[in-house]
Order: sequence, then structure tokens, then C-alpha cells
Amino acid sequence: MANINLAIVGCGGMGTRHLRGLAELQKHGLSEFNLVALCDPVLDNANLLADEAAERFGTRPAVVPTLAELAVHGVQAVDITTTPRYHHTLAVEALELGWHVMCEKPVGLTVECCRRIREAQSRTGRVLSVAENYRRDPMNRLAKAVLASGAIGEPRLMIHNTLGGADRMTISVWRHMKDQSGVLLDVGVHFTDILEYYLGPAVTAYGQVRLHEPVRHNPAAGKDNDMSSNPAGIYGRWQKVMPATFEPTAEDAAYGTITHANGAVTQFVEDHAGHGRGVFQRLLFGSQGSMDLPNDRSGQPVTVHLADGKSLTGDEVLDLVPDFRLEEATAALFGGERLGGYDLPFTEIDPRIIAIEYAELGQVLTGRKPAVEVDIEQGMRSVALVYALMESSLLNRAVTMDEVLAGSVNGYQAEIDEALFP
Ligand SMILES: NC(=O)c1ccc[n+]([C@@H]2O[C@H](COP(=O)([O-])OP(=O)(O)OC[C@H]3O[C@@H](n4cnc5c(N)ncnc54)[C@H](O)[C@@H]3O)[C@@H](O)[C@H]2O)c1
Repeated sequence: MANINLAIVGCGGMGTRHLRGLAELQKHGLSEFNLVALCDPVLDNANLLADEAAERFGTRPAVVPTLAELAVHGVQAVDITTTPRYHHTLAVEALELGWHVMCEKPVGLTVECCRRIREAQSRTGRVLSVAENYRRDPMNRLAKAVLASGAIGEPRLMIHNTLGGADRMTISVWRHMKDQSGVLLDVGVHFTDILEYYLGPAVTAYGQVRLHEPVRHNPAAGKDNDMSSNPAGIYGRWQKVMPATFEPTAEDAAYGTITHANGAVTQFVEDHAGHGRGVFQRLLFGSQGSMDLPNDRSGQPVTVHLADGKSLTGDEVLDLVPDFRLEEATAALFGGERLGGYDLPFTEIDPRIIAIEYAELGQVLTGRKPAVEVDIEQGMRSVALVYALMESSLLNRAVTMDEVLAGSVNGYQAEIDEALFP
């Protein structure tokens, strides 16, 4: 164990969370990695994370400002946790240096960015895993097994509704800027991954997107310890120095209808400008029953409503899937092979799920698993499906996934691509 030399590239919020995930994996004796270096042009961020690494692992990784400077540290794999705008340049450079890559979602800022990563991955033959965490939640594993068991019949309709946020900043300013991400891409890419996880490939999308809130407010500006949009409690020191108000350039709400190759339909609402009642609702209807799916990373139970009028929840759901077992690392990290729910604070759930991503990468790199679950193809599809809603809104017609993936429909993304690839 611990023989693959790894560097984390990007030492902000998610870099910190990944480091904690790696420490969690090590604590369970399942880590194949040796964290040799941290990379961030903001050396303060890298040094702070190196201090935390020294505490958690007992050795302090090297700190470098650029990817090229990692080579002298014997790096074999990099974990890219920078803001999305840099994912494609860093991933392509790392692959060309012969390194394996894990990359945070969205794997590329646009479909064109993803295409360039895919080309480099296939040319170099290195492993590229997209760190898509929501699907790895033990509750999504259980619900997927229930669906596969036929207990609710053939899937027909998913209703995915998320609303909230009003005019507050979602974690950081960059998340609201079209040329750096946009909140619909940042959060929506998790949801589009989940849709295809449950229902398989999307085929068409019709969407209407809106920029509802012309000004966003950062409640943490100038303050210590404001927790209003601070997952895992680690973004405060950066949020404190972000502006109190700013003008977003990216849309903050998407309303859409998506069709899937198996005939199922998704009704999709993702509204980050929702006022009043906050909503998270994910319902899956089949030909013989339905499921209420819990919020990702909450540990809340799945509820299944069967044709005979009976409803099962929590551990009762396990009776529908007698052969269901969580993967080895997930079971070790969450404390059981068959879980109907789990009760942990977010600060303990988050590193466990990230640990699963590292565990899988380790298994693939040591030949114990043939391929990663979320590869560049799937990562690219999730990005394309988010943009399909935006491209559709711009054209005021339904678009196909094929035309968005091929780049023949790219009017919404064109200004981002033109700036990135002049
Ligand atoms: N999976 C999840 O649940 C989840 C949650 C939060 C963020 N993310 C993703 O993680 C990524 C990072 O988000 P964040 O919240 O950590 O952002 P952040 O702004 O907190 O941190 C980004 C870090 O990257 C660094 N950076 C920028 N350019 C770099 C470069 N060329 N080389 C090295 N470092 C560079 C920045 O200096 C900063 O320290 C994004 O892609 C985001 O979508 C995923």
C-alpha cells in the first residue's frame, strides 16, 4: 500500500476536502497513495494545506506553484481540484507528462474543453477519473439496486426539483461567472450525472434558463465564521475577503424536460434564485411503483412505494434487494455492506465519499479493477447535458445530446471557447 506518488493540484476548498478524504482512506488502511506534493500558484493555500497534511499523514508534502515543477517529486498521478477553467489545460499537460489524473467535476468548462481532455487521454492511454461524488453515496447505490431489481417496474419519469439560494452567493464569486463556471454547471453537473446514473443516456433536452438575480450578496464578507454557504466549514477564510455584492454573468435557474434512450423522461428544475420555501425533491416513478430519493450525502433513507400500496423505508428497503452489497471500500468507510441509511454529520460524510473516489482510482491503477466508473466519456456527457439546457434555451427549441456533444450546437458556449481557444 501507499506506493503511488500523488499530488493534489489546487489547494482551495475542494483540495482541502480531498486531502481529508485521502486521510480518511488511509485511516481505514485502504490507501494506495503517497501524497508527495501540493500545487497551487497561491502558495499560501498550498502551504496551509501542507501544514494540515503534515498533521494528518506525519510527513509534509512538497509545495510548488506550477504543474511542471511536480516532475522532480516523482509524481505518478495528480488530483486536479482547481477551479473549472483550468481543468483542461492541467489535465492535458499531466496526461502528456505520463501521469494518471483524477479531476473534479465539471471535468471541463465546456464541451470543447472536455473533448480536448478526451483526445489527450486516448492518445496517452493514461487513466482519467472524474471525481463525481454524488452517485457514490451509499443511498444512491441502494436506490439504483432497487431500480435494477424491478421492484418499481420499468422507469418512466424522474422529477428532480431543487430550489433555494435567493440572492446569496453560492460558496464563491467564480461560481456565478459564465467564463469560469456558472452555478448551473457547478451544481447541475452533479444532477445530470445522477440522471444518467439512474436512467441511462439522455437523448434530447428542452430547457429555459434565466438569470433571475442581477446582484448577489456574500453574507460572509468581512466576517469570521459565517456558515451560510460554507460546505464542510472550510471556505470562510476565502469568503471573508470576497466582495459583499457582485453582478453574476451566468444564469441561475434552469427549467427543463429531458428524454432518455430507454423512453424515460426527466422533469428538471434547478433554481438557485428560489425565494421562500427551499425544495429538494427527487422522485422516480416506474411502471409498478415509485421511489423517493433522499438528498445526496444526507444519509436520509430511500422510500419505496410498491404496487400493492405498501411503502418501505430505511432498512426495510434492503428486503427488496437481498443480494445488494456496497463495494468493499464504501462498506469499510460507512460501516456495513448493507445500509438502509446512515447518521453522520456532513463533515464526516464528505471525506468518506471522497475517499471512495481515491479507493477506486487506487484499485484501477493497481490492476484490481478494470476501469474507473466515471470516465471522460461520462464526465463529458454530464457537462454536455447541462449545456444542452442552455443551448436549447438560446435556440428556443429542443436539442439533441448528439449535436451538443459533437459541438454542432454550441452557441451558448461559443464566447467561452473563443476566449479559451483564440
Ligand atoms: N464534488 C463536489 O462536491 C465539489 C464541491 C466543491 C467544489 N467542487 C469542484 O472542485 C473544484 C474546485 O472548487 P473549490 O470550491 O475548491 O474552489 P476554490 O476557489 O476554493 O479553490 C480553487 C483553488 O485552485 C487554485 N488554482 C487555480 N488555478 C490553479 C492552477 N493553474 N494550478 C493549481 N491550482 C490552481 C486556486 O488558487 C485555489 O486555491 C471545482 O471544479 C468545483 O466545481 C466539487
